[in-house]
Amino acid sequence: MMLEAKSLTMRFGGVTAVDSLSLEVPQGEIIALIGPNGAGKTTVFNMITGAYAPTSGKVIFQGSDITAKNPSFIAKQGIGRTFQNIRLFKGLSVFENVITAKHLHLKSNLFQAIFRIKGLSSYPEEEKRMIDETNDLLEKLGLIDLKDAVSTSLPYGKQRRLEIARALATDPKLLLLDEPAAGMNPQETIELARFIERIRDEFKLSVLLIEHHMDLVMDISKTIYVMDFGLNIATGTPSEIQGNKKVIEAYLGSGD
Ligand SMILES: Nc1ncnc2c1ncn2[C@@H]1O[C@H](COP(=O)(O)OP(=O)(O)O)[C@@H](O)[C@H]1O
Ligand SMILES: [Mg+2]
Repeated sequence: MMLEAKSLTMRFGGVTAVDSLSLEVPQGEIIALIGPNGAGKTTVFNMITGAYAPTSGKVIFQGSDITAKNPSFIAKQGIGRTFQNIRLFKGLSVFENVITAKHLHLKSNLFQAIFRIKGLSSYPEEEKRMIDETNDLLEKLGLIDLKDAVSTSLPYGKQRRLEIARALATDPKLLLLDEPAAGMNPQETIELARFIERIRDEFKLSVLLIEHHMDLVMDISKTIYVMDFGLNIATGTPSEIQGNKKVIEAYLGSGD
Protein backbone atom coordinates (compact mmCIF):
# COMPACT_ATOMS: atom_id res chain seq x y z
CA MET A 1 0.00 0.00 0.00
CA MET A 2 1.37 3.39 -0.97
CA LEU A 3 -0.83 5.51 1.28
CA GLU A 4 -3.20 4.76 4.13
CA ALA A 5 -5.27 7.46 5.79
CA LYS A 6 -6.69 6.11 9.02
CA SER A 7 -9.69 7.80 10.63
CA LEU A 8 -8.47 11.28 9.77
CA THR A 9 -10.40 14.03 11.49
CA MET A 10 -9.87 17.77 11.12
CA ARG A 11 -11.80 20.30 13.18
CA PHE A 12 -11.61 24.05 12.70
CA GLY A 13 -13.23 25.58 15.77
CA GLY A 14 -16.74 24.17 15.72
CA VAL A 15 -16.56 22.89 12.15
CA THR A 16 -15.62 19.27 11.48
CA ALA A 17 -14.20 19.60 7.97
CA VAL A 18 -13.14 15.94 7.81
CA ASP A 19 -14.74 13.31 10.03
CA SER A 20 -12.95 9.96 10.54
CA LEU A 21 -11.97 9.52 6.93
CA SER A 22 -10.07 6.37 5.98
CA LEU A 23 -8.78 5.64 2.51
CA GLU A 24 -6.10 3.64 0.75
CA VAL A 25 -4.07 4.27 -2.36
CA PRO A 26 -2.50 1.03 -3.64
CA GLN A 27 0.77 1.16 -5.55
CA GLY A 28 0.31 2.18 -9.19
CA GLU A 29 -3.42 2.94 -8.98
CA ILE A 30 -5.42 6.08 -9.66
CA ILE A 31 -7.84 6.66 -6.77
CA ALA A 32 -10.39 9.49 -6.74
CA LEU A 33 -11.76 11.62 -3.94
CA ILE A 34 -14.96 13.40 -4.94
CA GLY A 35 -17.79 15.32 -3.33
CA PRO A 36 -19.58 18.67 -3.42
CA ASN A 37 -17.77 21.91 -2.64
CA GLY A 38 -16.88 22.18 1.02
CA ALA A 39 -17.00 18.39 1.52
CA GLY A 40 -13.46 18.37 2.98
CA LYS A 41 -11.43 17.04 0.03
CA THR A 42 -8.68 19.66 -0.03
CA THR A 43 -8.42 19.43 3.75
CA VAL A 44 -7.59 15.71 3.31
CA PHE A 45 -4.71 16.69 0.99
CA ASN A 46 -3.56 19.29 3.52
CA MET A 47 -3.41 16.64 6.23
CA ILE A 48 -1.57 14.14 4.02
CA THR A 49 1.05 16.72 2.99
CA GLY A 50 1.58 18.09 6.51
CA ALA A 51 0.08 21.52 5.81
CA TYR A 52 -2.42 20.76 8.60
CA ALA A 53 -1.87 18.52 11.63
CA PRO A 54 -4.98 16.32 11.89
CA THR A 55 -7.09 16.67 15.02
CA SER A 56 -6.93 12.87 15.15
CA GLY A 57 -6.08 9.91 12.95
CA LYS A 58 -2.99 8.77 11.10
CA VAL A 59 -1.31 9.12 7.73
CA ILE A 60 0.81 6.11 6.78
CA PHE A 61 3.03 6.42 3.71
CA GLN A 62 4.77 3.25 2.50
CA GLY A 63 4.35 1.75 5.93
CA SER A 64 5.76 4.74 7.87
CA ASP A 65 3.75 7.04 10.07
CA ILE A 66 4.11 10.57 8.64
CA THR A 67 1.22 12.13 10.55
CA ALA A 68 1.79 15.87 11.16
CA LYS A 69 5.41 15.78 9.95
CA ASN A 70 6.52 19.01 8.33
CA PRO A 71 5.60 19.56 4.67
CA SER A 72 9.16 19.58 3.33
CA PHE A 73 9.95 16.31 5.13
CA ILE A 74 6.83 14.74 3.64
CA ALA A 75 7.67 16.01 0.15
CA LYS A 76 11.11 14.45 0.48
CA GLN A 77 9.58 11.10 1.43
CA GLY A 78 7.97 11.14 -2.04
CA ILE A 79 4.61 12.91 -1.97
CA GLY A 80 4.03 15.63 -4.58
CA ARG A 81 0.91 17.74 -5.00
CA THR A 82 -0.78 20.35 -7.13
CA PHE A 83 -3.15 23.01 -5.84
CA GLN A 84 -6.77 23.78 -6.63
CA ASN A 85 -5.72 27.37 -7.34
CA ILE A 86 -2.68 27.26 -9.60
CA ARG A 87 0.45 28.30 -7.69
CA LEU A 88 3.12 29.09 -10.26
CA PHE A 89 5.86 31.67 -9.80
CA LYS A 90 4.35 34.40 -11.94
CA GLY A 91 7.45 36.22 -13.14
CA LEU A 92 9.41 33.06 -13.93
CA SER A 93 9.57 31.04 -17.12
CA VAL A 94 8.34 27.48 -17.54
CA PHE A 95 11.90 26.18 -17.16
CA GLU A 96 12.57 28.34 -14.09
CA ASN A 97 9.36 27.20 -12.43
CA VAL A 98 10.40 23.56 -12.67
CA ILE A 99 14.05 23.98 -11.69
CA THR A 100 13.04 26.17 -8.74
CA ALA A 101 10.91 23.28 -7.50
CA LYS A 102 14.01 21.07 -7.62
CA HIS A 103 16.06 23.61 -5.71
CA LEU A 104 13.33 24.09 -3.15
CA HIS A 105 13.28 20.37 -2.61
CA LEU A 106 16.98 20.44 -1.80
CA LYS A 107 17.19 23.74 0.01
CA SER A 108 13.72 24.41 1.40
CA ASN A 109 14.43 28.08 0.83
CA LEU A 110 12.77 30.12 -1.89
CA PHE A 111 15.29 32.94 -1.83
CA GLN A 112 18.24 30.57 -2.21
CA ALA A 113 16.45 28.64 -4.93
CA ILE A 114 15.73 31.70 -7.08
CA PHE A 115 19.17 33.14 -6.39
CA ARG A 116 20.76 29.98 -7.71
CA ILE A 117 18.73 29.62 -10.88
CA LYS A 118 19.81 33.13 -11.80
CA GLY A 119 23.28 31.67 -12.39
CA LEU A 120 24.96 32.16 -9.06
CA SER A 121 25.41 28.50 -8.33
CA SER A 122 28.26 27.38 -6.13
CA TYR A 123 27.87 23.73 -7.16
CA PRO A 124 28.14 23.63 -10.97
CA GLU A 125 27.85 19.85 -11.23
CA GLU A 126 24.69 19.66 -9.20
CA GLU A 127 23.37 22.59 -11.24
CA LYS A 128 24.17 20.86 -14.50
CA ARG A 129 22.35 17.72 -13.40
CA MET A 130 19.29 19.75 -12.43
CA ILE A 131 19.26 21.57 -15.75
CA ASP A 132 19.42 18.25 -17.63
CA GLU A 133 16.70 16.71 -15.50
CA THR A 134 14.48 19.76 -15.95
CA ASN A 135 14.86 19.68 -19.74
CA ASP A 136 14.17 15.97 -19.71
CA LEU A 137 11.01 16.42 -17.65
CA LEU A 138 9.73 19.26 -19.87
CA GLU A 139 10.37 17.06 -22.91
CA LYS A 140 8.39 14.16 -21.42
CA LEU A 141 5.49 16.42 -20.48
CA GLY A 142 5.28 18.12 -23.87
CA LEU A 143 6.35 21.53 -22.54
CA ILE A 144 9.85 21.79 -23.95
CA ASP A 145 8.86 24.16 -26.78
CA LEU A 146 7.45 26.51 -24.16
CA LYS A 147 10.42 26.40 -21.77
CA ASP A 148 11.25 30.11 -22.09
CA ALA A 149 7.66 31.36 -21.99
CA VAL A 150 6.55 33.26 -18.91
CA SER A 151 4.50 30.70 -16.99
CA THR A 152 1.42 32.85 -16.56
CA SER A 153 1.27 33.67 -20.28
CA LEU A 154 0.42 30.03 -21.04
CA PRO A 155 -3.13 28.90 -21.80
CA TYR A 156 -4.88 27.50 -18.78
CA GLY A 157 -4.53 23.83 -19.71
CA LYS A 158 -0.76 24.25 -20.14
CA GLN A 159 -0.46 26.02 -16.79
CA ARG A 160 -2.14 23.05 -15.15
CA ARG A 161 0.32 20.75 -16.91
CA LEU A 162 3.21 22.92 -15.71
CA GLU A 163 1.91 22.62 -12.16
CA ILE A 164 2.09 18.86 -12.58
CA ALA A 165 5.63 19.20 -13.97
CA ARG A 166 6.59 21.15 -10.83
CA ALA A 167 5.12 18.44 -8.64
CA LEU A 168 7.06 15.79 -10.59
CA ALA A 169 10.33 17.73 -10.32
CA THR A 170 10.89 16.28 -6.88
CA ASP A 171 10.46 12.66 -8.01
CA PRO A 172 7.35 11.76 -6.04
CA LYS A 173 6.00 8.23 -5.73
CA LEU A 174 2.55 9.51 -4.81
CA LEU A 175 1.00 12.40 -6.71
CA LEU A 176 -1.94 14.33 -5.24
CA LEU A 177 -3.90 16.27 -7.86
CA ASP A 178 -6.41 18.85 -6.61
CA GLU A 179 -8.95 19.55 -9.39
CA PRO A 180 -6.46 19.38 -12.27
CA ALA A 181 -9.24 19.80 -14.86
CA ALA A 182 -10.73 22.92 -13.26
CA GLY A 183 -11.19 25.54 -15.97
CA MET A 184 -10.41 23.12 -18.80
CA ASN A 185 -12.65 22.66 -21.83
CA PRO A 186 -13.99 19.18 -22.74
CA GLN A 187 -11.18 18.49 -25.21
CA GLU A 188 -8.47 19.45 -22.69
CA THR A 189 -10.22 17.30 -20.09
CA ILE A 190 -10.11 14.24 -22.33
CA GLU A 191 -6.42 14.87 -23.03
CA LEU A 192 -5.79 15.24 -19.30
CA ALA A 193 -7.21 11.76 -18.66
CA ARG A 194 -4.71 10.18 -21.06
CA PHE A 195 -1.95 12.43 -19.69
CA ILE A 196 -2.53 11.33 -16.09
CA GLU A 197 -2.49 7.65 -17.11
CA ARG A 198 0.67 8.18 -19.14
CA ILE A 199 2.61 9.89 -16.34
CA ARG A 200 1.35 7.27 -13.88
CA ASP A 201 3.01 4.61 -16.05
CA GLU A 202 6.08 6.58 -17.09
CA PHE A 203 6.98 7.87 -13.61
CA LYS A 204 5.66 4.80 -11.75
CA LEU A 205 3.28 6.89 -9.71
CA SER A 206 0.32 6.23 -7.53
CA VAL A 207 -2.27 8.99 -7.87
CA LEU A 208 -4.92 10.44 -5.57
CA LEU A 209 -7.20 12.68 -7.59
CA ILE A 210 -9.73 15.29 -6.48
CA GLU A 211 -11.93 16.20 -9.42
CA HIS A 212 -15.37 17.51 -10.32
CA HIS A 213 -15.41 16.41 -13.96
CA MET A 214 -17.24 13.11 -13.55
CA ASP A 215 -16.36 11.83 -17.04
CA LEU A 216 -12.68 12.10 -16.13
CA VAL A 217 -13.13 10.49 -12.71
CA MET A 218 -15.22 7.61 -14.07
CA ASP A 219 -12.78 7.09 -16.93
CA ILE A 220 -9.52 6.70 -15.03
CA SER A 221 -10.22 5.82 -11.38
CA LYS A 222 -9.88 2.36 -9.95
CA THR A 223 -11.73 3.25 -6.75
CA ILE A 224 -13.74 6.34 -5.86
CA TYR A 225 -14.23 7.71 -2.34
CA VAL A 226 -17.16 10.10 -2.02
CA MET A 227 -17.27 12.73 0.73
CA ASP A 228 -20.10 14.96 1.87
CA PHE A 229 -19.89 17.29 4.87
CA GLY A 230 -16.61 15.68 5.97
CA LEU A 231 -17.97 12.15 5.91
CA ASN A 232 -17.13 9.31 3.56
CA ILE A 233 -20.65 8.51 2.28
CA ALA A 234 -19.68 5.93 -0.35
CA THR A 235 -16.69 4.01 -1.69
CA GLY A 236 -16.61 1.85 -4.81
CA THR A 237 -15.76 1.32 -8.43
CA PRO A 238 -16.93 3.91 -10.97
CA SER A 239 -19.98 1.84 -11.89
CA GLU A 240 -20.90 1.29 -8.24
CA ILE A 241 -20.62 5.01 -7.49
CA GLN A 242 -22.54 6.11 -10.59
CA GLY A 243 -25.70 4.37 -9.40
CA ASN A 244 -25.30 5.12 -5.69
CA LYS A 245 -28.38 6.88 -4.28
CA LYS A 246 -26.56 8.70 -1.47
CA VAL A 247 -24.04 10.07 -3.93
CA ILE A 248 -26.69 11.33 -6.32
CA GLU A 249 -28.54 12.99 -3.44
CA ALA A 250 -25.37 14.65 -2.15
CA TYR A 251 -24.74 16.20 -5.55
CA LEU A 252 -28.36 17.17 -6.22
CA GLY A 253 -28.62 18.73 -2.77
CA SER A 254 -25.53 20.84 -3.35
CA GLY A 255 -26.66 22.20 -6.70
CA ASP A 256 -23.40 21.05 -8.35
N1 LIG B 1 -7.87 26.65 7.36
C1 LIG B 1 -9.20 26.54 7.57
N2 LIG B 1 -9.79 27.18 8.58
C2 LIG B 1 -11.13 27.07 8.81
N3 LIG B 1 -11.96 26.33 8.05
C3 LIG B 1 -11.40 25.66 7.01
C4 LIG B 1 -10.01 25.72 6.71
N4 LIG B 1 -9.76 24.95 5.62
C5 LIG B 1 -10.95 24.44 5.27
N5 LIG B 1 -11.93 24.85 6.09
C6 LIG B 1 -13.35 24.47 6.02
O1 LIG B 1 -13.41 23.08 5.90
C7 LIG B 1 -14.48 22.70 5.04
C8 LIG B 1 -13.95 21.82 3.92
O2 LIG B 1 -13.17 22.61 3.04
P1 LIG B 1 -12.31 21.98 1.85
O3 LIG B 1 -11.49 20.88 2.38
O4 LIG B 1 -11.61 23.09 1.17
O5 LIG B 1 -13.49 21.39 0.93
P2 LIG B 1 -13.43 20.88 -0.59
O6 LIG B 1 -12.01 20.85 -1.03
O7 LIG B 1 -14.08 19.55 -0.56
O8 LIG B 1 -14.25 21.87 -1.38
C9 LIG B 1 -15.14 23.98 4.57
O9 LIG B 1 -16.24 24.23 5.39
C10 LIG B 1 -14.04 25.00 4.77
O10 LIG B 1 -14.58 26.27 4.97
MG1 LIG C 1 -11.05 21.81 -2.57
